[in-house]
Amino acid sequence: MSTYEEMTRDELLTLKEALQKEYDEYCALDLSLNMARGKPGADQLDLSMPMLDVISSDSVVEDADGTDLRNYGILDGIESAKVLMASMLDDEPENVIVFGNSSLNIMYDTVMRCWVFGPNGATPWSQLDEVKFLCPVPGYDRHFGVTEAFGIKMIPVPMTEDGPDMDVVKELVANDASIKGIWCVPKYSNPGGVTYSDEVVRELASMPTAADDFRIFWDNAYAVHHLYDDAAEQDQLLDIAKACAEAGNPDRYYKFGSTSKVTLPGSGVAAMAASPANVADVKKHMGVQTIGHDKINQLRHVEFLKDADGIAKHMSKHAAIIRPKFELVLETLNNGLESTGCGEWSTPRGGYFISFDAPEGTAKRVVELAKNAGVTMTGAGATYPYKDDPADSNIRIAPTLPPLDELDQAMKVFVTCVKLAAVEKLLED
Ligand SMILES: Cc1ncc(COP(=O)(O)O)c(C=O)c1O
Repeated sequence: MSTYEEMTRDELLTLKEALQKEYDEYCALDLSLNMARGKPGADQLDLSMPMLDVISSDSVVEDADGTDLRNYGILDGIESAKVLMASMLDDEPENVIVFGNSSLNIMYDTVMRCWVFGPNGATPWSQLDEVKFLCPVPGYDRHFGVTEAFGIKMIPVPMTEDGPDMDVVKELVANDASIKGIWCVPKYSNPGGVTYSDEVVRELASMPTAADDFRIFWDNAYAVHHLYDDAAEQDQLLDIAKACAEAGNPDRYYKFGSTSKVTLPGSGVAAMAASPANVADVKKHMGVQTIGHDKINQLRHVEFLKDADGIAKHMSKHAAIIRPKFELVLETLNNGLESTGCGEWSTPRGGYFISFDAPEGTAKRVVELAKNAGVTMTGAGATYPYKDDPADSNIRIAPTLPPLDELDQAMKVFVTCVKLAAVEKLLED
C-alpha cells in the first residue's frame, strides 16, 4: 500500500470520500470524550482512598520529636515528610522544603522570588531590560504559562531522544546573559516521554553560562511514574544536584516534585530540593509568606506511602491500570496509521503522555475535526511557547483519564481525523 504522499490526486479524492463517510458516522454517535489533560482516572484515585483513613480523631498527630502537628509552625515541612520527598527528589532531607499540594505553585513562586528579589542576592530579574528562558519543545504548557505571565521571553529549543539539543542550549547560554533559566522535565518528559541522558545532565550542569544566576528548573514531576517493571535498570536519571556540585556550579538548579499523580492531585504534597544556599534563600522569603503548610496531610502521606519502597509498590499499581491504556493508544496508532506515512509518535516508558506529530500543517485541523466529533484533545500548539508550533504538527495525547472503552473509541476517531486532515492538506497543496 502506498503512503498518502505517494497517491495520485484521484486516489486521494476516493480516499477522502471514504474517510469523510467514516468521520460523519463518528459525528452521528454524539460522543463526548476527553483526552485533553493528564489527569489520573477515577480507578487510580481509588488506590489512595485508604490514605484518608490512616489518620482519625483518635490518632496521635505528632512528629517523631513530639511536635504537635495540629498547631502552627514547621516552615519547611515535617522531618518524616522531608525524608519521604527526598527519596522522590533523589536528594538529602536537609536540602528539601515541603510545601502545599502543588509543585506548579512552587515553580511560580520560585520565578516570582527571582523576579522580585533576585536569586541569592543577584539583581532582581524584574530590574533587567530583558529576561529569557529556554523552553525545550515540545514541552509542558503550564511551564510556558508561568514564564509568559512574567513577560519572560521564551526561546524554543528542540528536544532530542536524549533531552534538549545541547549544541543549541550551550551556544545560546554562553553568549546571552539575559538567558536566566531553562525548563526541564528530565524524566519521562511531558509530552515526549524522554529521560535525559547522563551526558545531557552533565552538560547542563557544567556548561558555561553568560548569566551568573542562570537556573535550571528541574521539574521531576514523573520521577517515579514508570510504566514498566525494569525501570530501575532502564530509566536511570543522573542526579542534577551532584552533577552541578561536581561541575563547580552548586547553586545552578532547583528541583521540584509532588505526589499529585502518586496519591491525589488535589490533595497531595509538593516539595523542592536545592543547594544549602538556595534553600536558605527560599526560606528567608517563605518565612514572610507563611507560618507553614498542611502538616497533617504531610503526615498522612508518610503513614500511607512510608518510604521509597512503599512509593514504588504504590506506583506499580498505577502502572497496572494505565499501561493498558498506553498500549491501546500505541496499537491504535500503529494499526491505523502505519502504512499511511501520516504521523510519528513517541513510545514512552513512563509519565503521562504520548507525543504525536501529525503531518506538518495539520495539527490544528486534526484537533478541530476531533472536537467536532466529540473528542477533546489538548489544543494544537499548546506544547510550544506562546502556543505557537511553527510546524503546526505536535499534538499531546493524554490516555490516563478515560476508561479503556472510551479511550478505544476516542483513538479511533482521532486516527480518522489525522488521516482526513492529511488528505485534505495533500489535496490543497
Ligand atoms: C511536568 C509537570 N509538572 C508539574 C505538573 C503539575 O504538578 P502539581 O500537581 O504538583 O502542581 C504537571 C501536571 O501535569 C506536569 O506534567
